[in-house]
Amino acid sequence: MYPIERVEALNAEVTRMVVRAPQIARKIKPGQFVMLRIDERGERIPLTMNDCDPQAGTVTIVFQAVGATTKRLATMQAGEALADFVGPLGNPTELEGARRACVIGGGLGTAIAYPQAKWLHEHGCEVDVITGFRNKDLILLEDEINACSTRQIIMTDDGSNGNKGLVTQALQQRIDEGADYDLVLAVGPVIMMKFVAATTKPYGIKTLVSMNPLMIDGTGMCGGCRVKVGEEYLHACVDGPDFDGHLVDYDDAMRRGVMYREFESQAREDRDCGERKGA
Ligand code: NAD
Ligand code: FES
Repeated sequence: MYPIERVEALNAEVTRMVVRAPQIARKIKPGQFVMLRIDERGERIPLTMNDCDPQAGTVTIVFQAVGATTKRLATMQAGEALADFVGPLGNPTELEGARRACVIGGGLGTAIAYPQAKWLHEHGCEVDVITGFRNKDLILLEDEINACSTRQIIMTDDGSNGNKGLVTQALQQRIDEGADYDLVLAVGPVIMMKFVAATTKPYGIKTLVSMNPLMIDGTGMCGGCRVKVGEEYLHACVDGPDFDGHLVDYDDAMRRGVMYREFESQAREDRDCGERKGA
């Protein structure tokens, strides 16, 4: 069992959870993920690492309560334990050699982009971090990102933080100002990553995107997480989750994402119905 050490609501939708998993904490790197199961009968869900503390033996995950399992996970408390917590899975993000990077987080993707920004900052890279949220109440990790960036730009769709616009507008502005990035890394909604890649392509800036398709086994066996990259289908769980942003077929990824929405909503209905019967 994997004890939960700390649980904290970061906003109305998003929870940060610190889990005791010493072996994983020693090995996990930015970009890698774990597969967890709440109990023996629960579904496996992949969650990308937000932070880790090898000395304390803990791994931090940040998640949005959107599906049946994440809604249940958000109700768990410190002192309870998870049945499974398997990892590290996937490949670490290739960050070596970057000197001037721009890390972009869209919504919850900001939590996944944070360890990359932290790693780059700790390794002497100049790091701009651009994040985007629907409104100011959803802003995540502002203090943490301030501590590991050269410059933080927070955009909101409704302008409620005084900075209205999409992350791509801030990125274009920084490029126009002569930012001269040698790496752009984007984590967030597929549509956001599509337009980040379209923004950097004319300048030939190396761009990595973190793909987050449905995952079932996390080991390359089920085929659920296929992503079209150039002419081939690759598996996000074993070949990714990061891919060359200029080669990913985002429209195909969005089509595949929609396929599973109905299944998720049925799982949510079954769970709510079960809870009503148990009440
Ligand atoms: P959201 O829909 O609120 O979007 C966040 C920000 O992305 C927006 O504020 C905007 O700045 C930017 N954005 C959105 N559409 C854009 C467009 N068309 N062009 C340019 N920029 C655009 O995000 P959310 O509701 O918090 O959802 C988070 C998303 O992140 C989910 O889709 C989730 O699947 C994804 N995610 C991905 C990973 C990963 O590893 N890749 C991890 C966690 C979450
Ligand atoms: Fe099954 Fe990747 S999750 S192949």
